Amino acid sequence: MYFASDNSSGVCPEIMEALQRAAGGYATAYGEDGETGGLQERFGALFGREVRIFPVITGTAANSLALSALTEPWGQILCHQGSHVYNDECGAPEFFSGGARVVPLPGAGGKIDPEALRRAAAHTGHGVHTSPARAMTITQATESGTVYTADEIARLTAIAHDHSLGTHLDGARFANAVASLGCAPAEITWKAGIDVMSFGATKNGALGAEAVVFFDPERAADFERRRMRGGHLVSKMRYLSVQLHAYLDDDLWLRNARNANRMAARLHQGLTGIDGVTLLGPAEANEVFAVLPVRMADRLREAGAQFYGDPFDDPAAAEPLEAIRLVASFCTTADDVDRFVEAGVAAAG
Ligand SMILES: Cc1ncc(COP(=O)(O)O)c(C=O)c1O
Repeated sequence: MYFASDNSSGVCPEIMEALQRAAGGYATAYGEDGETGGLQERFGALFGREVRIFPVITGTAANSLALSALTEPWGQILCHQGSHVYNDECGAPEFFSGGARVVPLPGAGGKIDPEALRRAAAHTGHGVHTSPARAMTITQATESGTVYTADEIARLTAIAHDHSLGTHLDGARFANAVASLGCAPAEITWKAGIDVMSFGATKNGALGAEAVVFFDPERAADFERRRMRGGHLVSKMRYLSVQLHAYLDDDLWLRNARNANRMAARLHQGLTGIDGVTLLGPAEANEVFAVLPVRMADRLREAGAQFYGDPFDDPAAAEPLEAIRLVASFCTTADDVDRFVEAGVAAAG
């Protein structure tokens, strides 16, 4: 009953086996190997156009380095107020960009409100005294477990481009979004106006492999040096690349994500109607958010469930409440979900 994070899940067997097969022998270091070279074509085919792809180890590095390519040190990076970039990267985007300001914007369900974006992008302030907006970043699937449609993304990127902002997509859970929408990866990236993305694999079964993917090769001009300077030009790069190839082989990335999404939907359905549980939104990807009495959350934990929660302030509530997040992953089973739901029913009684 492990629903704390998809980062807590292990490595899926197909990726481990691919690493094992590649473990021996020699290859040129620092990405000059065949596996890494082959990624350009592989991701080009995945996205249906020429791309430049740069593997890195963490999602934070992918986001921060990608954003640093979109702004000068004095620019603003516009994001959602609930975004990982804003809340959970300890200032890495500011650090890698040499000082750009990350500016949070409101919006329901983890999605940037287009009007808020329009205002922030157009804000010129006091001329040279004000940092100009230079980049916009969205997360897909969002930190609230929702999924932007292609039209929603296109609407935001059109506003951003109208004001000469570069556009970035944090795809730490990109596979879950693609599996949820059933669309081609191109539809919610470059065709919807995204210039560069962070392509995540770690949460969805890799051991540790993320990548920055540029849809506009011109923006990638000095990225090789940014990555080097940022400490992410990995000497044995081939092992990141092997993971990324295995991730795409036979649609493993989508099969894994479909399982995670299905399990989240099952969880959502199972929790619906349990006395005391209020579900916050639908399960569009692999996360479920709910509010419930602290006493129920404690009983679920005593029954062996693992998940994160924060106190939920509701002055009208009869007892203390907790807002919880439940995350399913590629290895979550129906049995995990059903036992959690049973424990929830018991805790309510
Ligand atoms: C939406 C989102 N983006 C980026 C990241 C960053 O990934 P990492 O922990 O590998 O730096 C996370 C990690 O939890 C995330 O949830």
